[in-house]
Amino acid sequence: MAPILRIHENHELASSAAASLVGELLHKGGLAALAGGRTPRNAYQRLAKLALPWSEIQLVASDERLLPDGDPERNDTLLDEYFGRLGCTRLHFDTRESAEAAASDMEQKLKPLLPLKLALLGLGEDGHTASLFPGNPALQVRSLVAPVHDAAKPPPDRVTLSYSTLNTGKAVVFLVTGAGKGEALHQLLHGENIPASHVQAEQVWVFADRAAAGQRS
Ligand code: 6PG
Repeated sequence: MAPILRIHENHELASSAAASLVGELLHKGGLAALAGGRTPRNAYQRLAKLALPWSEIQLVASDERLLPDGDPERNDTLLDEYFGRLGCTRLHFDTRESAEAAASDMEQKLKPLLPLKLALLGLGEDGHTASLFPGNPALQVRSLVAPVHDAAKPPPDRVTLSYSTLNTGKAVVFLVTGAGKGEALHQLLHGENIPASHVQAEQVWVFADRAAAGQRS
């Protein structure tokens, strides 16, 4: 199914629209996977202010980096910052031992909570999403969570929700902003063979700004 594209004037407006949709999808609670990286900060700030049944909501990062707990580059740290005090359930990746151990631990935590209500995902310039990088063996993993090594974006060791998990969602929401993402966005919208194109759901939404969509204001 072709993605539903919404182009907004700038990053803030695209973020705000994505946050509103995520809020609607979570109005009765449920499990959501949320991207790490820099793009979603604005959206998380807005989402955290919405009146949602937070005690009925479970959040998990779409992927995690093998860095010490509390490291500013960990996705858990980002989610803690915005959602840590709202009373929602947070599923933390335990990365102390190895990517393999973190994957199997998260597999056990996730299994009873699936399916996802939604996944809010980012898009890398090379077409990756979560920590599903082009050509990486993690793309083939069938279990719910995959260890990742040699990731093209630092750090190289990571753990990611696999397609088996991401594709359980009723909705997938990509938030893609900035001119640097233009080429990857084009590929995603045209269903070209990049990792992000293989995330499927009943509804795939793409919230982009004009810079990413290649439109002048
Ligand atoms: C991560 C991700 C990753 C991210 C994209 C976009 O932890 O790195 O979850 O998939 O969403 O790389 O990252 P930016 O938003 O920083 O461009």
